[in-house]
Amino acid sequence: MTDQDRAAPPEDLPLFDGPEFKADSPARFAELRRKAPVHRARFADGFTGWVVVDPAVAREALTHPGLMKDPVRAGLVSRQEYSRDALFSGNMLTADPPDHTRLRKLVAGAFTPRSAVRLRPRIQEICDELLDGIAPLGEADLVESYTRVLPMTVISELLGVPEERRADFQHWSNQGLGNIPGADSAEGMVLLRRYLAELLEEKRRDPDDALLSALSRVRDEDDGRLSDDELLGTSVLLVIAGHETTVNLLGNALDALLRDPAQADLLRADPDLLPGAVEEFLRHDAPVEFTPGRFAAEDVRLGGELIRRGDVVTVALGSANHGASPGDGAVLDVTRRDARHLSFGHGIHYCLGAPLARAEGEIGLRSVLERLPDMELAAPQQPTPRLPAGIMRGPTSLPVRFTPR
Ligand code: HEM
Repeated sequence: MTDQDRAAPPEDLPLFDGPEFKADSPARFAELRRKAPVHRARFADGFTGWVVVDPAVAREALTHPGLMKDPVRAGLVSRQEYSRDALFSGNMLTADPPDHTRLRKLVAGAFTPRSAVRLRPRIQEICDELLDGIAPLGEADLVESYTRVLPMTVISELLGVPEERRADFQHWSNQGLGNIPGADSAEGMVLLRRYLAELLEEKRRDPDDALLSALSRVRDEDDGRLSDDELLGTSVLLVIAGHETTVNLLGNALDALLRDPAQADLLRADPDLLPGAVEEFLRHDAPVEFTPGRFAAEDVRLGGELIRRGDVVTVALGSANHGASPGDGAVLDVTRRDARHLSFGHGIHYCLGAPLARAEGEIGLRSVLERLPDMELAAPQQPTPRLPAGIMRGPTSLPVRFTPR
């Protein structure tokens, strides 16, 4: 970082999202890694802080005891002040031990590798049903009709969200994450929380065998283990983390395959490559491009920079992946054997849903490659439209054409 950056007022800091950055973040990250491991930056939503772009410093930041998730536990704000503003709180992702440990344990049983194996036949059925609808059409937008629908259906069934509310649900979650230009993200989060609060009440009155009912039971039967706020916060987290991310894994992978059909041919010829290829897609194009922020509870040294107490640090996972890969990290190779990446994070907050995401990625991609063997981009000369801002990276639309069957 230059002295100029250090002294810069927030509005003069470089912007690390927005359509121009997002159009080619791998190239931007490569340039940033050449300059320094850690940068000061701002984001379109007004957030300013430190961004780690170097792989080794990324691992250090993700496990640093001085970088905390909960600004209250870090001693930076009062609980009252924080809960007034934080719409995305009361869950494991925004908590530190011991709260984090307790909250994660409550739902960990539903997301084990074995649970993901049990879900595989249902994931396959959902893919087949979606593709039964798409295959006769001859053209489709794969984001609208496939990559957005599959993860939402899976997580909604797991949680017990009724089918007729899933479209609203998806819209609010999208809006809440700042993915809809011009829409108020705080409002999206409020609407999502309001609906989930009503749904939790309903599950309490009329339980089913899905996860939200089970969580409501923990709240009622074991007072002290889960507060009302945490019940709602955990539900919001599972909805958002459980689908927005996987949507982008599928979308990024399909975009890459449509732009490099030789890679798609390799997977069609040998579907056993798919589990390894999913790791490669995660490495190549991190769906969560930047982690949610961590707060410095004390002055911290990171990548040669002094991070002051109270400053916020985020890790550019997409950059860390490319910087750690041998050769040119931006090149996709579905036959790569050991695609190592930080796309699911690192340390105690390592993604709880990784086994489920991997299963959805593998089955979702295998199914579409099989059922639409000659699919191609409808307008290959145009760049893929991408989410213009925020922590996620993924296409907003993927129009394709194929022989109807
Ligand atoms: C390709 C898909 C996915 C990606 C790339 C992804 C990525 C991540 C990342 C990077 C983190 C850590 C963030 C941090 O350290 O600040 C995380 C945490 C988390 N993810 Fe995922 N995720 C995916 C799918 C899922 C799914 C399907 C679920 C299912 C519910 C899920 C649930 C969670 C939860 C609950 C956490 C918080 C864990 C904790 O704080 O201990 N994720 N995810």
